[in-house]
Amino acid sequence: MVEIKGLEYAYPDGIRALKGISLDIFEGESVALMGLNGAGKSTLLLHLNGILQSDIGTVEVLGMKVDGNLREIRSKVGMVFQDPDDQLFMPTVFDDVAFGPINMGFSEEKVKEKVRMALELVNMSGCGARAPHHMSFGEKKRIAIATVLSMEPEILVLDEPTSNVDPNARRHLIELLNELDITKIMATHDIEMVSDTCDRAIVMFEGKIAANGAVEEVLTNSELLESHGLEAPILVKLFRDVMHRENIPLRLNDVIEKPNKYKI
Ligand SMILES: Nc1ncnc2c1ncn2[C@@H]1O[C@H](COP(=O)(O)OP(=O)(O)OP(=O)(O)O)[C@@H](O)[C@H]1O
Ligand SMILES: [Mg+2]
Repeated sequence: MVEIKGLEYAYPDGIRALKGISLDIFEGESVALMGLNGAGKSTLLLHLNGILQSDIGTVEVLGMKVDGNLREIRSKVGMVFQDPDDQLFMPTVFDDVAFGPINMGFSEEKVKEKVRMALELVNMSGCGARAPHHMSFGEKKRIAIATVLSMEPEILVLDEPTSNVDPNARRHLIELLNELDITKIMATHDIEMVSDTCDRAIVMFEGKIAANGAVEEVLTNSELLESHGLEAPILVKLFRDVMHRENIPLRLNDVIEKPNKYKI
């Protein structure tokens, strides 16, 4: 689905943001990119639909090299930017969410239906006439996600989807992500969201991949996380540091479902 080989990228001012990334992502996977500020997460995501391109290494998405075919790639790879102000540029929410489907050539009726569906998915029904630049940051974030969902992408790329989003909207977003049966790739500092929505976790550090494995493996490895500046989930710390257990659960549900395994 996504095949990245030996990707290196330096910004025009000389900052080397990616230093040799190789990564495969398979259909239906939900993959988290974690890592400190400046680790290269956003830079890597921006290569998935050709917003950034490099001469060193290759990026293939859905069997297409990301250097030509950008129109087709962008209709299939929905990218939600870290900053919603980079995504929203129309006078109304409706226009922003309709922009993708209109460009894809859908009829007026179909466009309206897709906008309605996308706004409903992010719990922002009835906001079509509002001006995005008058909305709160969290609301804009949800509209930004709707602008991508309205295109029904095959791959959903999200950069910090839960930052500045209230707990209720965050919970709703997690449920939405779990219901969406498509390939998802998200950069995030929200480690609890990773355990709730992702199968695989990748830790980036200074432009390289420092770890890449099943969420259960990566997130319960507190030494690995801490040595790359990240923090283990609270439950992992509780079981490891306070209770000195060997079996470390990742989610509260794991403990509730298997109390014997965790000696509760
Ligand atoms: N437009 C730019 N011009 C120059 N350097 C940049 C630019 N954008 C990012 N960088 C640099 O590239 C490196 C990687 O940045 P990137 O934004 O990919 O990090 P990140 O992992 O997404 O961080 P964060 O968690 O803060 O979002 C950093 O050193 C950053 O300062
Ligand atoms: Mg970033």
